[in-house]
Amino acid sequence: MTDVRNGSSQQSAVGVQSTQVRADARTAKKPLGAKGPKVLLCLALLVAICPLCAGETGAEAWLRYHDLKTSSLPTLVAAVGNSNVVRTAANELIHALAGKSKAQGPAGQLPAKDAFVLGTWKDIHALFPELPAARLPAGDGFWLKTVRSRGAKYWLIIGRTDRGVLYATFSLLARIGQQKDVSTLDDVQTPSAPIRWVSEWDNLDGSIERGYAGRSIFFDNDAVRADLTRAGQYARLLASIGINGCAINNVNASPRIVAPEFIPQLAHVADVFRPWGVKLAVSVDMSSPMVVGGLKTFDPLDPQVAAWWQHTVDEIYRQIPDFGGFVVKADSEGRSGPSQYGRTAADAANVIARALKPHRGILMYRAFVYNHHLDWRDMKADRARAAYDYFHPLDGKFEDNVVIQIKYGPIDFQVREPASPLFGTMPNTSQAIELQVTQEYTGQQRHLVFLAPMWKEILDFDMHVGTAVVSRRSSVVGKTPVKDIVSGKVWHQPLGGFNAVVNVGLDENWLGHPFAMANLYGYGRLAWNPNLSSEQIAEEWIRLTFGSSPQVVSTISKMLLSSWHIYESYTGPLGLQTLTGITGPHYGPGIESSERNGWGQWHRADSQGVGMDRTIATGTGFIGQYAPFAQKIYEPLANCPDDLLLFIRHVPYTHVLHSGKTVIQQIYDSHYDGATQTAELVAQWKTLKGQIDEDRYSATLKRLEYQAGHAIVWRDAVVNWFNRISGIPDAQDRVGHHPDRIEAENMQLSGYAPIDVTPWETASGGKAVACTQTECSASFQFSGSSGTYLVAIQYFDQNNGVSKYQLFVNDKIVDSWAADDHLPSDKMNGHTSTRHVTEGVALKSGDVVRIEGNPDGGEPAPLDYVELHRI
Ligand code: GCU
Repeated sequence: MTDVRNGSSQQSAVGVQSTQVRADARTAKKPLGAKGPKVLLCLALLVAICPLCAGETGAEAWLRYHDLKTSSLPTLVAAVGNSNVVRTAANELIHALAGKSKAQGPAGQLPAKDAFVLGTWKDIHALFPELPAARLPAGDGFWLKTVRSRGAKYWLIIGRTDRGVLYATFSLLARIGQQKDVSTLDDVQTPSAPIRWVSEWDNLDGSIERGYAGRSIFFDNDAVRADLTRAGQYARLLASIGINGCAINNVNASPRIVAPEFIPQLAHVADVFRPWGVKLAVSVDMSSPMVVGGLKTFDPLDPQVAAWWQHTVDEIYRQIPDFGGFVVKADSEGRSGPSQYGRTAADAANVIARALKPHRGILMYRAFVYNHHLDWRDMKADRARAAYDYFHPLDGKFEDNVVIQIKYGPIDFQVREPASPLFGTMPNTSQAIELQVTQEYTGQQRHLVFLAPMWKEILDFDMHVGTAVVSRRSSVVGKTPVKDIVSGKVWHQPLGGFNAVVNVGLDENWLGHPFAMANLYGYGRLAWNPNLSSEQIAEEWIRLTFGSSPQVVSTISKMLLSSWHIYESYTGPLGLQTLTGITGPHYGPGIESSERNGWGQWHRADSQGVGMDRTIATGTGFIGQYAPFAQKIYEPLANCPDDLLLFIRHVPYTHVLHSGKTVIQQIYDSHYDGATQTAELVAQWKTLKGQIDEDRYSATLKRLEYQAGHAIVWRDAVVNWFNRISGIPDAQDRVGHHPDRIEAENMQLSGYAPIDVTPWETASGGKAVACTQTECSASFQFSGSSGTYLVAIQYFDQNNGVSKYQLFVNDKIVDSWAADDHLPSDKMNGHTSTRHVTEGVALKSGDVVRIEGNPDGGEPAPLDYVELHRI
């Protein structure tokens, strides 16, 4: 075997199986470890750099391997041992550095030439006995180490487990991808927690609950897909950020998932996950023993039920020996659960956990249990209390392979919530934090929202339970941030960690918005090391996804790091939570939808004030669920942070914040600022034209421009609603005043008819026009000063038709477009209100501006207003 740089030939392709390789005499002059473990040698050919690769789809996410500087790196890859996962790692290295494998096969010896050497500690230590065992990381950890030995230099890629080898390989490649110096390495890394899972809310029919990027990569037509290529590619992405488990179906689970005929199908998914060290898990329904097993009960204390779970679990492990375990949603949002038999969550969790235990399987039992028929008139009722009220009394009653999976906040993935108080109150129970990569309440991947800064605030929040809560295993002192509780560190739990709902789909770029994968990347990185900063995570992701040009890195960093606050500022500031249509798709504004129903996401705004009183003194007592120190942060009005004020307090609109502004003025200002900053995101992105491949540049631009328009919809809806209910004017006189706006209902209409929009705040003036014929027009005479204008046309893009629009000036067509987006409603409302912008339109006084609309399907080519802005 010879180095390809010297121009010699290659041998076979990647299929690293168990055939023996003969090391070439020239490359293995002084073989090491001839009697040691099997060494597989692979020769890697370096590829040319791809400076600005045209037409990227985003499918490769952060594993693009473009622009790698490899000249000082070895061209040999030696994989030691028999593990398939180690072979996967070796192949990844070859794929990344060489583009294709040039030669390989088993060898008995380590080459006496510079090489990457991959293997588990056991195998590598046999070859390099001088390595100190004390450096060996725990769990899935790894050690990247360069050594010189007998005239050669080796880049050792060592894991305690084979999974660790894979993580080390990806870590090394990420460094090379970020143009870091890897000539000398001595880096030991241990993941923060053993459980680093993702969940996919995929239904067996191929749809995805709260998925925004196409259909399921796992299921179609009530079966596992025959082609699982994408599932394998997804496992690779997951492995590259240290994720070791994936629950592939909706938490609102079909009992069929564990039916005897389904288990062999699940085994196919496990097969494509396995090379990447990702364990398959599934969500199960508590009623499965009845629905699938035909029993008369699913009472967790019934011996027949226990036997059914045992039998089912044994069968799963017979077919999938490395199965990870189950996720359970019970007694929540109408799901069946132990309460039907007067049993507790511990009874329910334990019956399944006992079946999993002999196989070392894990049961993730979700703490998202609450009554969604609360009495909204009861000022003491509070959904935020539910997780603590149900689970705190059960602390210590769970089997030790049960992990209580707790949503980061006490409500439901809102744009801002405090850390769930439950984190601090179960010292004798393993816990995991549940995060959401899929942006259910944060813009559904149409709005740019980088969530790492939000997750960091929760993970870093000190529950201050060190002295307040004592566990059976240890009494604790010192800091108790959420990240150390869920990792099991604080109370020395055997398990613990992270689970995030991701919901990738068949869309080529996985999550829809080209920037949304920053959230999956950030999630994996934080699950591995929650001490990383958002800035570092953003920079890593940008370098790997878009390249390392300083302007690209600094511009996108700024966009990512500001995006959560921007979104919060126009959707739900001051702890109001996302003011979206909560009884609908959780997307656009729908401010009153949270009120006067049993779902308990109330903001309780009335003519006098706004906010949920959750104090101990006068409210629901929720604040009393925190340890005394944290109570002191939230309970006294003088301390309560502005950004959570209305989550914790009901205050008059005239209440003065720490910032010095009144609550109502802050609501107004925040929404205007947010919409302005969203427009700035577009401008920032435009500075990168020519520095990003055209496909991803324009796909991103399209989403950002849409977002800028939708932020205006949000802004106007929220400020108008609060203006009406409070009766307090905006000090800056912006609310309700739109000098540049012409309402469609005030135009000259032909075929169009005015219509009241519901909810009223989602259309300008509460009204729009709908076309009642096959073609309609709305026109007005321009009376402003002559010049060049930006014409913004606000219309509704329903999902039940593709209406067509044309813009004319004096009968001359200047633009046309189709309402062909896939927004989540078939009605005119805040979910569908959309802005089309035509730039550079020359107008002079007396010109007639006309919009023609052609309805399609159930969509009546609706129009809300036109705005004219002089450029
Ligand atoms: C949210 C979401 C549901 C989901 C639920 C859960 O309420 O809207 O679709 O089922 O969370 O986490 O179980």
